[in-house]
Amino acid sequence: MLRPFRQGPGADDRRSLLGQPSAKHTIALCRSKTVPKLTTSLCHLLGIEYPIIGAPISASPEFVAAVSNAGGLGVIQASWCTAEELQKIIKEVRHRTDRPFGVNFVLPLIEGQDYAILDAALDARTPIISTFWGDPAPVIERIHDAGALSLHTVGSTKEARRVVDLGVDVVVAQGVEAGGHVWGHVGTIALTPAVVDAVPDAHTVAAGGIADGRGLAAVLTLGAGAAWVGTRFLLADECQSHSVYRERIVAADENDTIYTKIFDGGWPDAPVRCLTNESVASWIAAGRPDPGKRPNEGENLATNSFGEPIFRYSIACPDVGMTGDVAELCMYAGQGVALTHEEKPVAKIIEEMVADAVAILSRLARS
Ligand SMILES: Cc1cc2nc3c(=O)[nH]c(=O)nc-3n(C[C@H](O)[C@H](O)[C@H](O)COP(=O)(O)O)c2cc1C
Repeated sequence: MLRPFRQGPGADDRRSLLGQPSAKHTIALCRSKTVPKLTTSLCHLLGIEYPIIGAPISASPEFVAAVSNAGGLGVIQASWCTAEELQKIIKEVRHRTDRPFGVNFVLPLIEGQDYAILDAALDARTPIISTFWGDPAPVIERIHDAGALSLHTVGSTKEARRVVDLGVDVVVAQGVEAGGHVWGHVGTIALTPAVVDAVPDAHTVAAGGIADGRGLAAVLTLGAGAAWVGTRFLLADECQSHSVYRERIVAADENDTIYTKIFDGGWPDAPVRCLTNESVASWIAAGRPDPGKRPNEGENLATNSFGEPIFRYSIACPDVGMTGDVAELCMYAGQGVALTHEEKPVAKIIEEMVADAVAILSRLARS
C-alpha cells in the first residue's frame, strides 16, 4: 500500500536537496538476468538505487563515495573531524560521486563546540544528516532549516515515537548485535517491526547483524525501508581498516564479540560491541576491575597516522595509518562477523547483497 510520507515543516525544501518524491513502505523488485532491481520508497526519499546504507564506520572519502556510487548511501563518520577537515572530506566525496551521501555525528562528542561541525556540514549543503547517542532535539530544527533530512538512531519504540514527534524524518533501529557503540538492548529482529509499528508515518531503517542478502531480505520483510550495514563493510577493499583487524574479522565467528564498557578512553560509560582480544581477556581474568584498576591501564599501545599515542582501553579503532600493537585495541565488530569473511570491493558486496535478497524475495513471492 502506498502511504504519503509524513511532511513536517520544510519537507518540500528537504526533498529539494535530493530531488525525489516519497511514499512509505513499498518494495519493488525485478529479477532480470542482467542487473536485479530492488528499491523501496525510502530509496526514493534518499535518492538512492538500493536499500543499503553504509554505516558511518569511516571518514574515508574513497569508502563513502564507493558506497554511494554502488547505489547505496555512503555516510561520513564525522564526529572526530574538525570543521575544516570535514569540509575537505565532503569536497572529496563530491569529487568522487554525484550521488547523495550523508554525514553522521555522535551527539555528545559535538555538543561541546555548540555543534559548529554540524553547521560546517550544513554549510556544505549535505543532504542527509544522521545523529546518534542521545537527544536530537537541539539539532533537528538546524538540520531542517538547512534543507537536509534528519536520521536518528534509536534503541526502543518509546524513543522512536519521541524523535519522530520532534520531527526526525527517518529512524534507524539499532539492534544490540550491532558493531561499534550500541545504544539499545533489543535484537534487530524484534526491534525493527516494533519500531515500524510505533512510528507508522515515518521511515524505519534496520541496523545490527545485517551482513548479506538474507539479512537484507529479512529486514525489508520486517518493514524496514533499508538496511544499515557496518561490520560487513569493514572488509571492503576501500575501507581503511588495519590489516590485523581484517585478519581477526575474517577468522571470527558469532561468539567472538563482546558487549562491554571497558574501551572508554575518549568516550566514557558507553557500551561498545567489539572482538574479544587480549585486553578483554586480561581484564576478565583480573576480575573485571573498575576503570583506574584495570590491567596495564594507560599503557601506550600504538600510534596513529598523526603520530599521536593510543593508550590501552581507548575507543580508537585500528585503521591503516596505525602502527604498534593494534590487536590489543578496540576492534569494533557486530555479531554479523560470522558472515563477514571475504574482502571485496564495496560494489561487489552491494551487488551480491541485492542479488541474493531479490532471489529470496522473488522465491518467497512465487511460493
Ligand atoms: C567500526 C565501526 C565504527 C562505527 N562508528 C559509528 C559512528 O561514528 N557513528 C554511528 O552512528 N555509528 C557508528 N557505528 C555503529 C553503526 O552505525 C551501526 O549501528 C552498526 O555498525 C550496525 O551493525 P553491524 O555492524 O552489525 O552492521 C560504528 C560501527 C562500527 C563497526
